Amino acid sequence: MDKVVSLCKRRGFVFQSSEIYGGLASIWDYGPLGIALKNNIANYWWREMTQLHDNIVGVDAAILMHPQVWKASGHVDGFVDPLVDCKQCKARFKAQDLIKQWRAKKKLAAISDGEIPDGGEGDIEQLMKVRWPEAACPSCGTTGNLTAPRQFNLMLKTFLGPVEESAAVVYLRPETAQGIYVNYQNVVNTARVKLPFGIAQIGKAFRNEITPGNFIFRTREFEQMEMQFFVPPADATEWLVKWCDKRFKYYKKLGIRPDKLRLHQHTPQELAHYAADAYDIEYEFPFGWQELEGIHNRTDFDLKRHTEFSGKDLSYMNEETKERFVPYIIETSSGLNRTLLTCLVDGYYEDTQDGEARTVLRLAPEIAPFKAGVFSLVKKDGLAELADQLANDLRKVGAVFVDHSGSIGRRYRRMDEIGTPWGITVDYQTKEDQTVTLRDRDTLEQLRIKMNELPGWMAAKLVVG
Ligand code: GAP
Repeated sequence: MDKVVSLCKRRGFVFQSSEIYGGLASIWDYGPLGIALKNNIANYWWREMTQLHDNIVGVDAAILMHPQVWKASGHVDGFVDPLVDCKQCKARFKAQDLIKQWRAKKKLAAISDGEIPDGGEGDIEQLMKVRWPEAACPSCGTTGNLTAPRQFNLMLKTFLGPVEESAAVVYLRPETAQGIYVNYQNVVNTARVKLPFGIAQIGKAFRNEITPGNFIFRTREFEQMEMQFFVPPADATEWLVKWCDKRFKYYKKLGIRPDKLRLHQHTPQELAHYAADAYDIEYEFPFGWQELEGIHNRTDFDLKRHTEFSGKDLSYMNEETKERFVPYIIETSSGLNRTLLTCLVDGYYEDTQDGEARTVLRLAPEIAPFKAGVFSLVKKDGLAELADQLANDLRKVGAVFVDHSGSIGRRYRRMDEIGTPWGITVDYQTKEDQTVTLRDRDTLEQLRIKMNELPGWMAAKLVVG
């Protein structure tokens, strides 16, 4: 993991936010290569969801929404973490984390005089009852200083209006999903969609996470790629299975090693307040198996709650059967930053080429920041001009990086390290027969190809199935 973090900083993928001021905890900025990779992943997901499905359309809702939205969604009351403070050192812990730590050390019975959640560390009511009068603080080690759990809402707040005290409190959305639900009726009325159909959205979300960390894995500002699929209630279970299958295949297509991916079904205690059934697609990160995407059967919870709170009827009329009902929702919720981290971790390799150490990022060509590095063997004799001309033709297909100086080996390695799939070298033979050397990042195979065939060759390679 340290090597990936260091590569990100060294080559300009990810920087700490406000670094010159000492940084801001768990907030990150994306540099030139990072934003290219992030945009490519977002476009890949958008294309997969909207272009390759004729029954999924897109929206882009605002981050700030009517405060009632979050009452209806259950986030004002339910999006909470029970926290425990140490009165001595002021450290703050998630009650779940303390229980997990002590359960692992088998010290639970000795330290608690309340009910211990039995495997259900996610059950908030149970968690709130636990007390630990004799427990030692994991941070300062003193005993008897841990408070009872207190509820802490994870939503970030701001104020709309001219004066802070009198202005309305609004929340920075903690999930993009609600922007889709409140636009559901608008989409039905304008986009000529019929059940089953989906609405996709990519956008920022914010959570005041208590234990963020692992670089960009869990942060307080992040992006989600969510798709809400509206179905007749009787078909929900079937669609949940279908979407688990489709989404699992998507990550394989994105080039993630299948043996590093698995599906995990939520236990009843793990289920979010809105879900009847849910699966996580998990990836084996260097810090363990962790959620990459959540796929949930949200039932009719959200549409019914918005009907109740807004007074607007959000039921659906099946024109053929003349049946009216509230659709169920199958949600696929993927983290954009987390997918980016997965691609970096999964693609990171080190090997030795011609006696020299090489770092390689095996990114799928479709998402690589640059598709090709274009080099002239030497800068003189018209080779640099030929390489520039070729690069201009290739730019119409995908981003390329031009480099005229240094040893060819070093130039290839600089491109390997940032995941560029192809290296193209213009040499003296190019002047004679208009061919160039094309080198593959992963197989290291080299072949000669006509310059004027390269844009078509590259375009064909970048078509996603
Ligand atoms: N709308 C459902 C929802 O938000 P979630 O499991 O809380 O479900 C879905 O989040 C995905 O969003 C996660 O699988 C993860 O990829 C991403 N995500 C959630 N919290 C995150 C955070 N603090 N930092 C980065 N990504 C996060």
